[in-house]
Amino acid sequence: MADGPDRWHQWLLNVRFGGDAASREKQLRTFLYPVRDTVLDKAQLGPGDTLLDIGTGDGLIAFGALERLGSSGRVIFSDISQDLLDHCRQAATAEGLLDRCRFVLAPADALASVADESVDVVTTRSVLIYVADKAAALREFYRVLKPAGRASLFEPINAAMSPLDPDFFAGYDVTPVRALADKVEALYESIQPRGKDPMGDFDERDLVRHALEAGFAEVNLELRVSVKNHKEPARWEQFLSTSGNPLIPTFGAAIDAALSPREAAEFAGHLRPLVESGTGRERMALAYLTAVKDAPPGARA
Ligand SMILES: C[S@@+](CC[C@H](N)C(=O)[O-])C[C@H]1O[C@@H](n2cnc3c(N)ncnc32)[C@H](O)[C@@H]1O
Repeated sequence: MADGPDRWHQWLLNVRFGGDAASREKQLRTFLYPVRDTVLDKAQLGPGDTLLDIGTGDGLIAFGALERLGSSGRVIFSDISQDLLDHCRQAATAEGLLDRCRFVLAPADALASVADESVDVVTTRSVLIYVADKAAALREFYRVLKPAGRASLFEPINAAMSPLDPDFFAGYDVTPVRALADKVEALYESIQPRGKDPMGDFDERDLVRHALEAGFAEVNLELRVSVKNHKEPARWEQFLSTSGNPLIPTFGAAIDAALSPREAAEFAGHLRPLVESGTGRERMALAYLTAVKDAPPGARA
């Protein structure tokens, strides 16, 4: 194994932005902060709440919650990556927030060290997409919530969008170099087979079903679909250093592995001008799900 932080840490802090600080700032401002704010708005936080953020990553939702909850609120950061939990602990220490934080190393579908009915709110963003047994995760969320507790989730719905552009690679029209794109896509497909991998084997209706089957008394789902016939222009080196998710190679590594040097040069000759000019398409389907656990009759509002 290579030294250094694990793949989740590397991807979240670096690879997803192609190592580009300006791109990071822009994605935070235009996408990640608005999603965080929506997840927290929908969670309806109350003063003194304890919030459990599952798959907390570098703490996007968790630190936002600490700020909103004020001095009496507590946040449990949970993840399968010890490196990311260590990162969050350091950040919490630096901000003087440590006494309101707990850190739990656990997968979303087996939160053994979080007691039954011990938290007011469960949040998660872009985590269930990596979990094979999503139904078990929803059951865990239900188990750890107190009566009247709320779950607020956000997940991309890849299954809704990925089959729509067969002639596109990473959002760019590759019709003239289709055979080369197929070779690179075959490499990705061998790692994450379409329809079978947890990232693409579910849609928003499955999330609703899992929440209901877990026992939640109230479930709401909002699906937001966005289609743009352009993409953010990117530097070629930045594009090559990026991957769509933490479990697959960067575009640069995949091109080098799947194509001969001559083929890679031909592929780059077509793709590079499109990447640098933003000539592409962006399609996204995003689901916000909120679920409320029933309260004893006397305690209902
Ligand atoms: C795309 S990141 C999202 C991080 C964070 N929620 C955010 O909003 O920025 C996915 C996170 O899920 C974590 N993760 C992956 N598989 C998981 C699992 N089975 N259970 C819990 N967390 C998981 C990863 O370590 C990573 O921190």
